[in-house]
Amino acid sequence: MAHINKAYVLNHWLLVLFLSAQQCIFVSSSDPSEIQTLLKFKSFLSNDTALDNWNNSTNPCNSTTNIWAGLLCEKNGNVYGLRLQNMGLLGIIDIDTLSGLSALRMISIMNNNFEGPLPSVNKLGALIGVYLSNNQFTGEIPEIAFEGMNQLKKIYLDGNEFSGEIPSSLAALPKLTELDLQGNQFGGEIPNFPQGPNGWKYFNVSNNQLVGPIPASLSNLDASAFVGNKGLCGKPLAPCKSSIKWINFFRS
Ligand SMILES: *[C@@H]1O[C@H](CO)[C@@H](O)[C@H](O)[C@H]1NC(C)=O
Ligand SMILES: *[C@@H]1O[C@H](CO)[C@@H](O)[C@H](O)[C@H]1NC(C)=O
Ligand SMILES: *[C@@H]1O[C@H](CO)[C@@H](O)[C@H](O)[C@H]1NC(C)=O
Ligand SMILES: *[C@@H]1O[C@H](CO)[C@@H](O)[C@H](O)[C@H]1NC(C)=O
Ligand SMILES: *[C@@H]1O[C@H](CO)[C@@H](O)[C@H](O)[C@H]1NC(C)=O
Repeated sequence: MAHINKAYVLNHWLLVLFLSAQQCIFVSSSDPSEIQTLLKFKSFLSNDTALDNWNNSTNPCNSTTNIWAGLLCEKNGNVYGLRLQNMGLLGIIDIDTLSGLSALRMISIMNNNFEGPLPSVNKLGALIGVYLSNNQFTGEIPEIAFEGMNQLKKIYLDGNEFSGEIPSSLAALPKLTELDLQGNQFGGEIPNFPQGPNGWKYFNVSNNQLVGPIPASLSNLDASAFVGNKGLCGKPLAPCKSSIKWINFFRS
C-alpha cells in the first residue's frame, strides 16, 4: 500500500511539474520589468496619444499578440520590436532605457517628428533592423556610430537632414544588406562597401551631396541608386573626368 502511495505521489508531482511547465510555455505574460522599461521609454516621448494604451493595467504582450500599440511580441511575451510609425511622436529616443528590453532586435520610428542627432543605436548591439526614415534628424554622424553592430542587416536613414560624410563604421558592418540614405545632405566620397554586387537587397544614396568616384564594389548597382548627387562619377554613372585634372596638371 505504501508502495502504491509513493507511485501516486510521484505521478502527482510529475503532473504538477508538467502543468506548470505548460503554463510557462503557453500562458506567457510579459516580464514585469519590461512593463516598467516601456513606460519609462514612453515618458521621454511627447505628443504620444497613439500610445495611450501603454499602461500598467495590462500586459504589453499576450504571447505573440501585442496588447500595447506598436509592439512586436515573441512567443514568450517579450518585446522583440518597436514599430512606432506614423504616430506624430516627438521627444527623445532613450536608448539607455531600451537596453532593458533583452529581446529587442528591431526599432522603427519612421514618419514621426523626431529631431536632433542620431540616437546612439550602437548601445543596442543585438539590433537587426533600424528604421529612422522621414523624421527631422540632423547633423553629422560620428565615424564610430555603428561600431559593434555585428547583427545589423537593415538601416534606413532616408528623408532626414543628416550631413557630413557617410561614417566608415556603416560601411564596415559585416551583415548589412539594406541601406537607404537617400534624401539627406551627406557629402564627401562614398566609402568602400566591401559587399559584392549580389550582397545588396536594397541600396540607395540618391539625392545627397556626394562626390567622387563610385567604389568598384557598387558599380553593378542600378544608376538610380546614385542620382541627384552632382559630384558622383564612374560606373554605373558617367566616367570620371580625371583627364581634365591631368590636363590642368600638365598646363600648370
Ligand atoms: C489603461 O488603458 C486602458 C485601455 O487599454 C484604459 O481604458 C485605462 O483607462 C487606462 N488606465 C490608465 C490608468 O491610464
Ligand atoms: C500603475 O500605475 C499607477 C499610476 O501611475 C501607479 O499608482 C501604480 O502603483 C502602478 N501599479 C503597478 C503595479 O506598478
Ligand atoms: C491571451 O490570448 C489567449 C489566446 O488567444 C486568450 O485566450 C486570452 O484571453 C488572452 N489573455 C489576455 C489577458 O488577453
Ligand atoms: C501630434 O500627433 C498628431 C497625430 O497623432 C499629428 O497629427 C500632429 O502633427 C502631431 N503634432 C506635432 C506638433 O508634431
Ligand atoms: C533610389 O531613390 C530614388 C528616389 O530618391 C528613386 O527614384 C530610385 O528609383 C531609387 N533607386 C533604387 C535602386 O532604389
